Amino acid sequence: MVAFEYLWLLLLLRGVLHVSAKSTTSDSSSTSTTDSSSSTDSSASSTDTGAAISIITTTGVAAPTGTYISYSTTITVRTGNNNTHTTFSTITASANTTTNGTTTTSTTTSTGVELTGTRVDSTSTATATTPANTQPCNGYTEFCSRQYSNITMVTAHNSPFVKKNNIASNQEYKVKTQLEDGVRMLSFEAHYYEEDIYLCHTSCDLLNMGTLEDYLTIVTDWIKDNPYDVVTIMIVNSDYVTPANFSSPIQKSGLIDYVYEPWKIPMSLDDWPTLSEMILDGKRAVVFMDYQANQTAFPYILDEFTQMWETPFSPVNASFPCTVQRPPGITAAEAEDRMYMINHNLNLDVSFEGLDILIPDSAQINVTNAVSGYGSLGLMANNCRSKWDRPPNFLLVDYYNDGNFQGSVFEVAAEMNNVTYNGKCCGGSQSAGSKIIDVSYTWLSFFGVMIVGCVTFVGL
Ligand SMILES: *[C@@H]1O[C@H](CO)[C@@H](O)[C@H](O)[C@H]1NC(C)=O
Ligand SMILES: *[C@@H]1O[C@H](CO)[C@@H](O)[C@H](O)[C@H]1NC(C)=O
Ligand SMILES: *[C@@H]1O[C@H](CO)[C@@H](O)[C@H](O)[C@H]1NC(C)=O
Ligand SMILES: *[C@@H]1O[C@H](CO)[C@@H](O)[C@H](O)[C@H]1NC(C)=O
Ligand SMILES: *[C@@H]1O[C@H](CO)[C@@H](O)[C@H](O)[C@H]1NC(C)=O
Ligand SMILES: *[C@@H]1O[C@H](CO)[C@@H](O)[C@H](O)[C@H]1NC(C)=O
Ligand SMILES: *[C@@H]1O[C@H](CO)[C@@H](O)[C@H](O)[C@H]1NC(C)=O
Ligand SMILES: *[C@@H]1O[C@H](CO)[C@@H](O)[C@H](O)[C@H]1NC(C)=O
Ligand SMILES: *[C@@H]1O[C@H](CO)[C@@H](O)[C@H](O)[C@H]1NC(C)=O
Repeated sequence: MVAFEYLWLLLLLRGVLHVSAKSTTSDSSSTSTTDSSSSTDSSASSTDTGAAISIITTTGVAAPTGTYISYSTTITVRTGNNNTHTTFSTITASANTTTNGTTTTSTTTSTGVELTGTRVDSTSTATATTPANTQPCNGYTEFCSRQYSNITMVTAHNSPFVKKNNIASNQEYKVKTQLEDGVRMLSFEAHYYEEDIYLCHTSCDLLNMGTLEDYLTIVTDWIKDNPYDVVTIMIVNSDYVTPANFSSPIQKSGLIDYVYEPWKIPMSLDDWPTLSEMILDGKRAVVFMDYQANQTAFPYILDEFTQMWETPFSPVNASFPCTVQRPPGITAAEAEDRMYMINHNLNLDVSFEGLDILIPDSAQINVTNAVSGYGSLGLMANNCRSKWDRPPNFLLVDYYNDGNFQGSVFEVAAEMNNVTYNGKCCGGSQSAGSKIIDVSYTWLSFFGVMIVGCVTFVGL
């Protein structure tokens, strides 16, 4: 048994080295990786076990899809201090389901939806704002008077997925360090597993980083300790479960005390409060969810796609076009009235034993997260600013601490924000010396774990 596992590890290691070479040089759309053309000469090369790892596509990954909401009217939840308006509106939710290339559209309309929420009158906070401006908001005094929707923030893609030498990791430093270093949006896949919400990469059998509640408790503690910071959480509801599943982790972690409830649904670009207003109000955690949000039932879980759009999902091509991918079918005018997030994480879309996995192309991270050059975050952000006439709101990256220098992603954000980067990156008290990019070893470890899983399964 031991010998069997070892053989697999050798094969996999060979596959890995080949994959990483291909990913930088090949333009072909499909690459088989463990073939006899490998120049590596090892005792394993004589076996005939077939392809273990292959790149599925280098041209594009299908975006997730689901139900997208559209509002026929704008809903004002409350206006002014204590002025409780209850409004009713018509909400249309339409979903396109694509099966074998055929798209089916289904539409549901509900009328008389009652909305609740809280809104602190902006004139009452405006007077109180002045003294707070001596404290930087999200690290910069310039941001205090700016609207939330007019600031560029760095997003740690799959923030919880920090596991040393594991290929399914997306970040090197844990969430507390991410926040200390200046990350202000945390994104993650959330899966319904064992009747709770867990943070897992692709599947909870591959990489399981524990419960959402535990993770949000750490985030909430940081928010408590940092009273002048506004943090955004982007939940990817991977299993499309009802948002009711998320209320318990938000309550039990204590995040509920800080969650922002918008005064209008949906919030357009101009509707957002300033950071000062949010800070003085103590509502400093903005929670978005990609699919299944229901702001009637859970006003603090904001529907992402009525208030934000995204560039193409998990790109595998470093050209990074600044086009709207989700929500599908919105007009340019609609896009201009919402915030937007640029997905600047370069991926390898790989198949292993039939499993389709997107993993960060960490070998190229120094280029991807750089300030300038082809494929860089800086170039994409600049292209987007030119195309849409305002900077992106969220810069989504893997391994935020790496780039052409440590902190280059924050340099890009600072340029977008027209402020001077404070240079405080990365790793804080954690050792910043160790390098994440030992590609072969990370592959080895990841698939090592999977093989143990397979063997266990077979043994049952
Ligand atoms: C990447 O995108 C660019 C621009 O669309 C295209 O010219 C190029 O062929 C693409 N590369 C691959 C490998 O598909
Ligand atoms: C506003 O709310 C506060 C606290 O709930 C209450 O004391 C006050 O009377 C209210 N003001 C008005 C004008 O309703
Ligand atoms: C989709 O295609 C697969 C394979 O060609 C087939 O097995 C399946 O029945 C198709 N599904 C539908 C809904 O047509
Ligand atoms: C966004 O902030 C910048 C910098 O303070 C400011 O010049 C600009 O007018 C703001 N844009 C909007 C729409 O408020
Ligand atoms: C969570 O989602 C699952 C799957 O959709 C559902 O069966 C369950 O009732 C939900 N739990 C709550 C508390 O909403
Ligand atoms: C949203 O929640 C409200 C109140 O709980 C409920 O009446 C409505 O059916 C929900 N909408 C959807 C689309 O689930
Ligand atoms: C569904 O597909 C139609 C036709 O392609 C498109 O016009 C519409 O915007 C799509 N709607 C959604 C919600 O994706
Ligand atoms: C990125 O790293 C590779 C390999 O270490 C190196 O050859 C390349 O010059 C680096 N590129 C940048 C932009 O730093
Ligand atoms: C950037 O900031 C400087 C002052 O620091 C100001 O003079 C300039 O107008 C700002 N540019 C933009 C585009 O807001």
